[in-house]
Amino acid sequence: MRTFLIAGNWKMNAGPSEAGKLAKEIAGTWKGKTFSSEALICPPFVSIAAVSKEFEGTQFKVGAQNVHTEDNGAYTGEISTSMLKDANCEYVIVGHSERREYFHETSELVAQKGKKVIDDGLKAIVCVGEVLEERKAGKHEDVVKEQVNAVLDLLDGDVSDQFVIAYEPVWAIGTGETATPEQAQEMHKFIRSLLTEKFGDDISQKIRILYGGSMKPENSEELLSQTDVDGGLIGGASLKADSFSKIIEISESI
Ligand code: PGA
Repeated sequence: MRTFLIAGNWKMNAGPSEAGKLAKEIAGTWKGKTFSSEALICPPFVSIAAVSKEFEGTQFKVGAQNVHTEDNGAYTGEISTSMLKDANCEYVIVGHSERREYFHETSELVAQKGKKVIDDGLKAIVCVGEVLEERKAGKHEDVVKEQVNAVLDLLDGDVSDQFVIAYEPVWAIGTGETATPEQAQEMHKFIRSLLTEKFGDDISQKIRILYGGSMKPENSEELLSQTDVDGGLIGGASLKADSFSKIIEISESI
């Protein structure tokens, strides 16, 4: 019942010229073919227009990697939800571990951003995940519970169409190390139980939970085959048209 979401997070890579070329290549690999998964690219802010232009008339969607909680005003360097809507974005990633770590975003701020995105009619991909020491200490579920519940506390009603969670174990991001399919499923199932506690079974079954952390064509089939894994948030492998397209193709075969 849940449609796979295959989302690329380009992070701070690809300015407008390079991003346009890469988007064209990605769209080109699906020329004349359709897919039933949802596919999304989140480029840097300055490259959103270039990517959006190349994706016109295709099934590919565009999103952003961050957003501010205010509508406009004296917030130098920030971008608002209305600007992202105007720029054709449908999704916004919030609370990526790199923002939590390097830009000191707290669970509370991430929750406010997630709520703002949803209130303003966009779709939020809220990232959660533990660091290696927390997993080694057996605290991974506690950490993820705190991060997930911070957002759930601010949400109400059926948000299933606008709310996506991405479980990204920090130790697996950009390291080449992936959670095993069993570790991923265990955490995704735990996250779904938190969603069920908050929203009840009907709504929780509709909310997508993505896995992120060194997902690539070679490991995506096993990960995406897990019951509660509803897609991927893909960094490195989304910067290569063939790898990203291959992951979409694999999702189609599951
Ligand atoms: P990665 O990044 O696929 O390069 O590990 C994933 C992410 O940070 O979203």
